[in-house]
Order: sequence, then structure tokens, then C-alpha cells
Amino acid sequence: MRQGKQKILNNDFNADKLKCCLKKVERDNVMHNPNFSSGPCSKRPLWRLDALQDAAVGRSHRSALGKQKIAKAITDTKKILEIPDDYLLGIFPGSDTGAFEAAMWSFLGPRPVTVLVWESFSEGWATDVTKQLKLNPTILRADYGNIPDLNAVDWNSDVVFVANGTTSGVKIPHWNWIPADRAGLSVCDATSAAFAMLIDWSKVDILAFSWQKCLGGEAAHGMLVLSPRALARMESYDPPWPLPKVFRMKKSGTVDKSIFDGDTINTPSMLCVEDYLDALKWAGEIGLKGLFDRSLANLKVIEDWVEKTDWIEFLAASKVIRSNTSVCLTVTSEKVKAMPKEGRAKFLKTIAGALDKSNVAHDINSYKDAPPGFRFWCGPTIEPADVRTALAELEKIYQQKISEL
Ligand SMILES: Cc1ncc(COP(=O)(O)O)c(C=O)c1O
Repeated sequence: MRQGKQKILNNDFNADKLKCCLKKVERDNVMHNPNFSSGPCSKRPLWRLDALQDAAVGRSHRSALGKQKIAKAITDTKKILEIPDDYLLGIFPGSDTGAFEAAMWSFLGPRPVTVLVWESFSEGWATDVTKQLKLNPTILRADYGNIPDLNAVDWNSDVVFVANGTTSGVKIPHWNWIPADRAGLSVCDATSAAFAMLIDWSKVDILAFSWQKCLGGEAAHGMLVLSPRALARMESYDPPWPLPKVFRMKKSGTVDKSIFDGDTINTPSMLCVEDYLDALKWAGEIGLKGLFDRSLANLKVIEDWVEKTDWIEFLAASKVIRSNTSVCLTVTSEKVKAMPKEGRAKFLKTIAGALDKSNVAHDINSYKDAPPGFRFWCGPTIEPADVRTALAELEKIYQQKISEL
């Protein structure tokens, strides 16, 4: 890269030409990106720290400049995700967890609750509804790799679910199982789905996600979408339990709409806001369908490799529920399957460790509570060429390690 830049600088100076050539040099010399973490996820291609140079650091988030940047983060998100005009979108502290907890604590209670559980984060939501809110929910469960029977959901209840199970690599197949005339609210954690999978907003009442996932933003800031049905619930219902300030969305008995115009409950990081604006700019240029396609292209690289590889399979039991963002793989070779679970986990961790050490793929271990295996983040910020490089190395290291057994 340095060599390429030098060559250009030696030519006659022309600012526009230089800019254009540098872009080309960057494109042609992009280094391998080894970041496959499922959160915080990889930054967009060619991201540099100088993307933050216009950050309103040291300025109040309530100043005209601060407010304008936060409002832009909200309006650009709504535009890119095609969120209907009559839905509200606000920024909450505590990342996806903060936004989703604020929703559960503010909206749940007046109806029965159903929670769909098929991996670690949905399990966490079920625990909170049961043990913290003490709402005695109906829990529909499936093991890692599967999904509960979506047709068994009682829509007389409020229904809590994840759109994509980040720790099992299993997503909901579509939104048709949510009836248009539901009585309860659909309460969706879409943190590893937003910007990478289709969301049918007509089936969503409450939805949360965070900046750190599909767009590779920074952690600690969550977003919450509320439909008109959710707003009607909020106007007519006050939960019987105390609500911490960071969960409170009502003022003088009515929804505090200013939160959703960017008047955040507490202070956001203006550095993270700037970074999110940079991510949105990149995403806006690609478009929603383009973002989906980027993620699907990454999944396709893994699918092609799994197809021709006899020792590995997707954890997801079928293609329709296979995630295109958090792609979870399980090792199926007899030698590995015969190991006790702990030994298997240790063996696979050694392989992931070797890829980490060689700077080819970081953070590809399966989630701590998930079955031992590998997990590659394949969201829109990832490039197929990087997935290909990582898989080639995985194949090499696996063959090496298995032959040493
Ligand atoms: C499905 C799901 N829900 C919630 C979270 C928690 O997200 P955050 O750490 O941004 O609050 C994650 C993080 O990976 C997730 O995958």
C-alpha cells in the first residue's frame, strides 16, 4: 500500500486524480480482515479512526450540533431500515440489552406473556420475564439448532422473541407466523438481524437492536422501535413495578416523544454517534437490499465450503432457519464426536486459537453456552474474500490437528 501511494505522489500533482487513485490503491490493496466476532462486529470495509474527525466531542448532546447529529442518526436509520413514518425510533443506553429491557419492563404485564427460547439470549429474556418481572410466561423452547413451533404461539399473549439467535445461528424463517390481527404485542430482539435480514414492520410492535452488530458500530447504544399499537399500550398502561430512569419513556402520564426525536434520556457518547453516522453513510450508499446481499454472499461462501467438506455441518437444522449473520458450525467427524464434550470444546478451541494467533480469524469460537464449534460473523461489513481466506486456514489447521490426535 505504501509503495502504491509513493508511486502516485511522484506523478504530477492533481488533487482529484490523487484522491481517485488513492481510493483505487486502497481497493486493490485491502488487507485481509480477520475480524469475525459476533459483537462488537467488524467495522465497515476501509474504516479508519479518521472517520470520527468531525465528532462533536466535548460538546453537549443537547447543543444544536449534538441534537442535529443524534436526530440524523435516528432519521437515517429509519430511512435505511424502511421503518414506517408512524413508528417511533429512539436511542437508549445499555446497547440492545438496555433497549430491550426498557421495553420488557415498560410494556409487559397487562396480558399473558409467551417467550420463544432457542439459544442463550432468548433464554436470558425468559429468565428476566420469569424471575424479575415474575410474569409466569409460557415458554416455548427448542434446542440449539432448532426453533420452537411458531404456529403454536398464542397471539392473545404478548410474544417475546429474537429474530436471529446469535448463539445458535438460527433465525426466524419469515414473519408470516405473526398474524396481522394479533391481540398481543410482538416484542422482537433483532440485534443480529437488523440491516441484514428482512423485517416486516407490519408484524412488529416493539423491536430493539444495537449499533455494534450488523453495521459494525460501537457498543453501549441501543435502538428501540415502537409501533402505533405499542404506543397505544403505553398510553393506557403503567407497570406495577418501579422503573429505573433509563427505562422510563413517559412524562406526565403520556409517551415522551422527545426521546424519539433525539432528546436521549441520558448522555450518549458523541464519538459513538459519529461512528454510527459513518456506518449509516456507508450503509445508505449500499442500500438495504445491498446490505442483505453482502451478508448472503458471505453465507454462500460458507455453504459452498460446508457442502464439499465432510467434517463440518451447520448447527441450524435446516436451510430456512440458517442465519446469514451469525453462522454457527458444528464438527461432525467421528473422531471429534467421540470425544467427551469438554475435550471436544478444548480441541476446537485450540483450532480457533491457532487461527487467532496467525491473524487469519479472530473470535470464531462458538458462544460459551452453545454447543462446541465455530461461529463466523457474516454480516454486511464482512467481505466474502476474507471468509474464504479464513475457511482455507481453518481447513488446514483442522487437518493438522486432527492428524496429531
Ligand atoms: C440476540 C442478542 N440479544 C442481545 C444481545 C446483547 O447485545 P448487547 O450486548 O448489544 O446489549 C446479543 C449480543 O450478542 C444478541 O446476540
